[in-house]
Amino acid sequence: MDNIHGAIFPFFIFILLNLQMSHIVASDDQLQTYIVHVQMPHNQISTQEFSENLESWYESFLPATLTTSSGDQEPSPRLVYSYRHIFSGFAAKLTPIQVEAMEKMEGFLSAKPQRVITLHTTHSPRFLGLSGQSRGLWRGSNYGKGVIIGLLDTGIRPEHPSFNDEGMPPPPAKWKGSCEIDFAAHCNRKLIGARSFEGGNGTPMDFVGHGTHTSGTVAGNFVKGAGVFGQANGTAAGVAPLSHIAMYNVCPSGACSESSTLAAMDMSIHDGVDVLSISLASTGSSAYYDDNIAIGAFSAMEKGIFVSCSAGNSGPFLASVSNVAPWILTVGASTINRKIKATALLGNRKQFNGESFFQPKSFKSTQRILIFPNRTSPYCTAATLKSINIKEKIVLCVVGGGVPAVSKGLAVQNAGGAAMILMNDVYLANTTSASAHVLPATHVSYADGLNIIKYIDSTTTPTATIIFKGTIIGGDNHAPVVAAFSSRGPNAASPGILKPDIIGPGVNILAAWPYSVENNFNSAGLNFNFLSGTSMSCPHLSGVAALLKSAHPSWSPAAIKSAMMTTADIVNLKGNRIEDETFHPADIFAVGSGHINPSRANNPGLVYDLQPTDYIPYLCGLSYSNHEVSIIVNHNVNCSRESRISDSQLNYPSFSVILGKNARTQTYSRKVTNVGGAQTNYIAHVIKPRDVVVKVEPTMLNFTKLNQVLTYKVTFSRSVTNATADFAHGYLTWTSTKYSVRSPIVVLLS
Ligand SMILES: *[C@@H]1O[C@H](CO)[C@@H](O)[C@H](O)[C@H]1NC(C)=O
Ligand SMILES: *[C@@H]1O[C@H](CO)[C@@H](O)[C@H](O)[C@H]1NC(C)=O
Ligand SMILES: *[C@@H]1O[C@H](CO)[C@@H](O)[C@H](O)[C@H]1NC(C)=O
Ligand SMILES: *[C@@H]1O[C@H](CO)[C@@H](O)[C@H](O)[C@H]1NC(C)=O
Ligand SMILES: *[C@@H]1O[C@H](CO)[C@@H](O)[C@H](O)[C@H]1NC(C)=O
Ligand SMILES: *[C@@H]1O[C@H](CO)[C@@H](O)[C@H](O)[C@H]1NC(C)=O
Repeated sequence: MDNIHGAIFPFFIFILLNLQMSHIVASDDQLQTYIVHVQMPHNQISTQEFSENLESWYESFLPATLTTSSGDQEPSPRLVYSYRHIFSGFAAKLTPIQVEAMEKMEGFLSAKPQRVITLHTTHSPRFLGLSGQSRGLWRGSNYGKGVIIGLLDTGIRPEHPSFNDEGMPPPPAKWKGSCEIDFAAHCNRKLIGARSFEGGNGTPMDFVGHGTHTSGTVAGNFVKGAGVFGQANGTAAGVAPLSHIAMYNVCPSGACSESSTLAAMDMSIHDGVDVLSISLASTGSSAYYDDNIAIGAFSAMEKGIFVSCSAGNSGPFLASVSNVAPWILTVGASTINRKIKATALLGNRKQFNGESFFQPKSFKSTQRILIFPNRTSPYCTAATLKSINIKEKIVLCVVGGGVPAVSKGLAVQNAGGAAMILMNDVYLANTTSASAHVLPATHVSYADGLNIIKYIDSTTTPTATIIFKGTIIGGDNHAPVVAAFSSRGPNAASPGILKPDIIGPGVNILAAWPYSVENNFNSAGLNFNFLSGTSMSCPHLSGVAALLKSAHPSWSPAAIKSAMMTTADIVNLKGNRIEDETFHPADIFAVGSGHINPSRANNPGLVYDLQPTDYIPYLCGLSYSNHEVSIIVNHNVNCSRESRISDSQLNYPSFSVILGKNARTQTYSRKVTNVGGAQTNYIAHVIKPRDVVVKVEPTMLNFTKLNQVLTYKVTFSRSVTNATADFAHGYLTWTSTKYSVRSPIVVLLS
């Protein structure tokens, strides 16, 4: 019934509108939401009066209703959001003709239709979780006390026990945020802000799950007894369990609008958040002046807000990384050392270990007929299985084809199949997921899948079964492994800035979920779920940022980021270099500086610091026009009056160097600030990229006091004219008896 009403109601409104404005031919659907940047008149900048009249000034840009040559009226333009803190501009519903009229107005800078913004979760079917894996991340820190973390997401389910406020102090006095009136009863000292951004009739309530999950990951409070199905009993907690949460719902049904995302960023700056956790991005990479999230993040950074974003799920392809501005922390995803093991045992006694969360005890592990039903379309949908007898059989399916893993299992089950073996494609390689399948199943790697196909082809009576082995923690010392889906560098918008910056847990992550994914509703509300994606790794790093902010209130966002990056781990639990989804050593475009190590990040020794104004020579150096730089920094910049630096020269904690074919030598200087022991001597150690000579000058940095800044120079040149590979990777590390401050190096040689 609800659905039927929902479908008819808007239709009715449409008809009424048309009746009232009977002479209008052009309909409302010609209007599109544009993000418009405008420039403050010089004499008015920042005056109180002007700020109060901001909205009417914005409205003055909207053209009066136009009448076209054929006598029809254009639909009236409409202001949707007025932006105050992220940049001078607004979102408005406009027709292309109205935009054209606006372009002639004084103060107009740019107008672009709002883009598609997507959540960075790869798998959002029903996953089912065990206990929180993030315990220990905050050991030795302040649990994030006093820090406010804002999330732009799908809302939050406030009654989840992860958002209880036991032991929480009241929000800091600077907090200006609030909860929607009809939601206020749900707010407490943990959840201190909850707003929605869809047309005014939305709610911060999470009907998707993503936002509840990321909120629980970043700052869920301690929850005892967070076990499901009697497995993995224990206490769950977010990364910064004593930080406050402010939820800004910008994706009410899982689809996010750019204008709302910007409105939420705008409000979060006003409200006084300390950390912004953004597990979404606009599709496609672009120059920073064309990337409104980057522009909004610049304003946030200027106010001391740490902005942490997901790198995207478009891996393993090169140059797929998003959210790449240097004032943003860009987070890739990797595995943790927990497997929910399910083993495929074939008729030839060969075994292949895979994963599944759903492990029914009733399933009898006897050999059954194994079938690979449709090789031309191996994705297991109802259509691809319809004319094939899979009754009582074990069915081999391939990931992808736009079909979620759990739906494949459902199709197999509906067609009478007994169980499913899900194999990866060549790109996903060894990245598997523990899904809450509806039938006995296991998800195996590409290599294992090929061996299973080989076996099927080798016999007239292939058979198999699945043996469930439950949760194995500590069994996988390959971890952390970069997830296949984690987006990779290089950074197309600014090749001299290495992206992603860092990786963190983002595969099979357990956190709070709005409802029970078990069949029986969990009356205690202790609902948890597994998700995978850079959406999941981003809040882990946002949580670490909150811990560092709490421990070092005076550190700038750049200092916090430097601390995380220069102390990250580059080896796995086995002590080998971190691997990617193929189980070969991952390159720096996959791992960035490495895997977050929170306790080391708390005491980095040295930091590469940056002030907001340091980005201006960098932006001018990107050959952006004055107009474009002004849009990003939100005030007038004349690059002819600024110094310009190459992007590799920005005081960043990593190096991305373009040497190119012409063998030019590049020299960069860096400034390091002593935040460790007062009197500490550091020595430079270089792991040389292949075919590159690296010279550091001086090779020693002797600090005599805290907060002292010393400068060094590093020169890169080719050692051969024809290099072995397009890219070469290495490290520059400053070491003292106590500290090790490492920067990754990528050199483009082609
Ligand atoms: C977890 O708790 C449940 C219910 O309290 C209990 O039945 C089960 O044995 C426990 N499992 C473990 C591994 O401790
Ligand atoms: C395989 O799948 C394709 C695409 O859905 C379908 O057209 C075809 O009939 C299937 N083949 C068999 C043997 O069922
Ligand atoms: C996955 O890992 C195995 C080692 O367990 C390796 O042999 C294989 O080549 C890897 N890659 C793929 C694509 O599965
Ligand atoms: C920018 O600065 C240059 C050099 O001072 C000057 O010639 C130019 O007119 C300025 N441009 C603008 C738009 O003010
Ligand atoms: C730094 O200290 C070391 C002794 O620890 C000394 O040998 C070196 O000359 C000093 N370097 C500078 C530049 O002062
Ligand atoms: C590099 O170039 C030289 C001469 O052009 C050639 O002899 C040598 O084999 C090349 N080396 C590689 C690694 O291609």
